[in-house]
Amino acid sequence: MRVRRQVSGALAAVLAGALALSAGPTAAQSGPPGPRYTAGAPGAGDAYFPFAGNGGYDVRHYDLDLTYTPPAPAPAPLVGQLSGVATIDLVATQDLDRFNLDLRGLDVQAITVNGKPAGEVAPPAAGAEVEGAAYWHVQDAADRIWELTIQPRPKIKQGQAARVVVTYGGATTRPTDIEGVLYGWVTMRDGAMVVNEPEGAMTWYPVSDHQTDKATYGFEITVPEGKVAVANGLPGRDPVTEGGWTTWFWEAPDPQASYLTTASVGDYDLRFSETAGGLPIIDAVDDNLTPANAAATEASLALQAEMIAFFEETFVPYPFNSAGAIVDDDTVGYALETQTRPVYSRAAREGTVAHELAHQWFGNAVSPERWADIWLNEGWATYGEWLWSEESGGDSAQASFDAVMEIPADDSFWDLAIADPGPFGLFHGAVYDRGAATLHALRVKVGDEAFFAASQEWLTRYDDSTATTDDFEAVFEEVSGQDLTTFFDVWVRTPIKPTTW
Ligand code: ARG
Ligand code: ZN
Repeated sequence: MRVRRQVSGALAAVLAGALALSAGPTAAQSGPPGPRYTAGAPGAGDAYFPFAGNGGYDVRHYDLDLTYTPPAPAPAPLVGQLSGVATIDLVATQDLDRFNLDLRGLDVQAITVNGKPAGEVAPPAAGAEVEGAAYWHVQDAADRIWELTIQPRPKIKQGQAARVVVTYGGATTRPTDIEGVLYGWVTMRDGAMVVNEPEGAMTWYPVSDHQTDKATYGFEITVPEGKVAVANGLPGRDPVTEGGWTTWFWEAPDPQASYLTTASVGDYDLRFSETAGGLPIIDAVDDNLTPANAAATEASLALQAEMIAFFEETFVPYPFNSAGAIVDDDTVGYALETQTRPVYSRAAREGTVAHELAHQWFGNAVSPERWADIWLNEGWATYGEWLWSEESGGDSAQASFDAVMEIPADDSFWDLAIADPGPFGLFHGAVYDRGAATLHALRVKVGDEAFFAASQEWLTRYDDSTATTDDFEAVFEEVSGQDLTTFFDVWVRTPIKPTTW
């Protein structure tokens, strides 16, 4: 018998209880010392998305073997079919009795841990024991709680590696984020656009869906012959076509946050080129762009190598094994800096390409430790656009800064403390433009030499990792030798237009 996955508030309350418990230290126990096997936390500890990510282990690698059937032609519903086998290599960071993965909108068919099958059971009451190797899946859309709990047997000792294989699948629809914006595996008539920020990776694979657990990825994506599946990194091998299906292989060996994974499917033309330094560029451009969008896209993608060279000279070498773009004729309403290969809606415009490329350093190589730190992503990527504009003969960074400072002090633009914009404010215009203005003001305050040296130190110290606004402030204080407390308070922590700093 299948266990119903839609749960009511009661179960949500149990999970919320688990979250509160796991936040505190493990209660001291009497008796002989030895392993104390406890449940991994159902969240990574992010205040904005408490159930995103999980505790108790560290994922090293995801191997995703996916088969996708796009929707039938209109008027058939805009629903696809996805089936997957996710092989997850992790290491326990505590003695683990149970642990969670995040998985939303799809159903689990089978789970093994180190080859040993777990059986599906109904979610137990809080504190209740469950016999043997087992799993249960809670999907509570009302409270935005999606948790797959796995109880491995034998239990996993701290430091021990485990391979978890989840066989899963179901209908794909068009998931939305907390603001109601399309994200995750977004089903399109001709395929899917896959863009996960902030916690939409769980709509297409079981994952610890938080950037504090970066991992490497391998993809094997089977789609109807004629469709192209594009993920992060480089092709692992040539595609294989058999019986009307084509399998595409991609390898992403650089540590990557789950919000930056993609496996988009469409009628793409694949183009291979490289930068002067030999970095592979792979562009997947939809066959069906309008002529105007196709022309704009060609012109901007042709600038990628130059932009990469410019950011490399300004900051540090490009952080990953490849670059490129996925340009779809459909739209999710925005572009996303998916690692190595950003996704663009309808067209890739020059400013947006500069923005998504700047994110490869700022956001992707160094990621925000908590979603509250999003200004470190969007402020920097916007500042990257400003720098590229100046470099390519457009407005100077100073002119872009001046334009932001022309916004009147009573405009609601200034009402956001960008270092804590709230879960509904992640993509507020101020996070982008006030964020970029903050960086420009910081540059003027500490001088070009310290500003660029500190930027390089930031990118080096936190490469392949995550860091906070406080960490950022500390690096700039250290390199410049200035006390920047007032500066950062005024610019990122106070919801008022800065006047003196
Ligand atoms: N990070 C993306 C960018 O650089 C924006 C993502 C917007 N996402 C959203 N759910 N509104 O432009
Ligand atoms: Zn951005």
